[in-house]
Amino acid sequence: MSQAIPSPGEALRAVRFEAGVLHLLDQRALPHETRWLVCHDAAAVADAIRAMVVRGAPAIGIAAAYGMAMAAAAGDDPEIAEATLRASRPTAVNLHWALARMRALGDVDAAVRAEEARAIHAEDLAQNLRMAELGAGMLGTGARVLTHCNTGALATGGHGTALGVIRTAWSAGRLGAVFHTETRPWLQGARLTAWELAAEGIPATMIADAAAAQLMAGGGLDWVIVGADRVAANGDTANKIGTLALATCARAFGTRVMVVAPSGTVDPDCADGAAIPIEERDGDELCTLGGTRSAPAGTRAWNPVFDVTPAAMIDAFVCERGVARPALGEHPAELLRGPADGGQETESTAGSA
Ligand code: MRU
Repeated sequence: MSQAIPSPGEALRAVRFEAGVLHLLDQRALPHETRWLVCHDAAAVADAIRAMVVRGAPAIGIAAAYGMAMAAAAGDDPEIAEATLRASRPTAVNLHWALARMRALGDVDAAVRAEEARAIHAEDLAQNLRMAELGAGMLGTGARVLTHCNTGALATGGHGTALGVIRTAWSAGRLGAVFHTETRPWLQGARLTAWELAAEGIPATMIADAAAAQLMAGGGLDWVIVGADRVAANGDTANKIGTLALATCARAFGTRVMVVAPSGTVDPDCADGAAIPIEERDGDELCTLGGTRSAPAGTRAWNPVFDVTPAAMIDAFVCERGVARPALGEHPAELLRGPADGGQETESTAGSA
């Protein structure tokens, strides 16, 4: 069913679990159409994740948790449901993290599983708010920031990771300028981030992905702020394709790099970035624009949708437990061993590129 775009606040609730059924705001249709997909079982959730109806690492994990809750309510085989969901997308470790948490419940009834899924959802929002405070606290007054892909309310349980930092910093009057990329080829930046920023009334400037080097070379940027799909124990970070290019330019031109992700995005089982599986999607996503073919028929395309930024290029890793400085050899996995509430960071303690 499709309808006119509702008020932004309403539309920004992208994942809803109501009366035992999962409603997903179809992110393929945004920003021009608001369409909800209703999932009644784990297989439908897996299809929705694969097709990018729901996307963004935390949102994928939350949707999968609800998928397991629906499998329990229907009496479906939990192992099949879990395997189906696990196979839906390979890079975002939040999916595996959420499934492991649901599995760890053991032999409980469906109502307890639904409650756990709701808890995962609510905790994600709380973690985002905490990360936003930590990250915003690291920005100097008048900071000029660039974000990539969509890491906002659409990609999470609410508020967002990197975009959450930008929202909070904007409310605190800390930002001098906000830039975001288009994010080829799926246009998460042009379609989703632009829409979220406009909904919040945050003035922003979109650039072509390839324009970031020119922006940095001209001294026009202080921070690149991105989310993550999987952070290896040493801080190497998989995120939307193009993040590595942004970090490389940032290194060259003295711009700092901040990665913002909840602790569920850290994978202690991946020692470094070489162990992170990188999703490759259909080359047709590159050969078309808005459903219209842009490349000639027969064009061969390679379409990896994530890349890995080495820890040495990341000045700050912000999670709800605190801040690590991967470029200085501090490993994000260490934060998982510390207390659950990190300390407040300020720019003066954050180190520089
Ligand atoms: O392919 P997507 O749209 O699921 O990729 C999303 C990203 O790469 C985000 O930057 C990442 O998941 C962090 S979102 C909070």
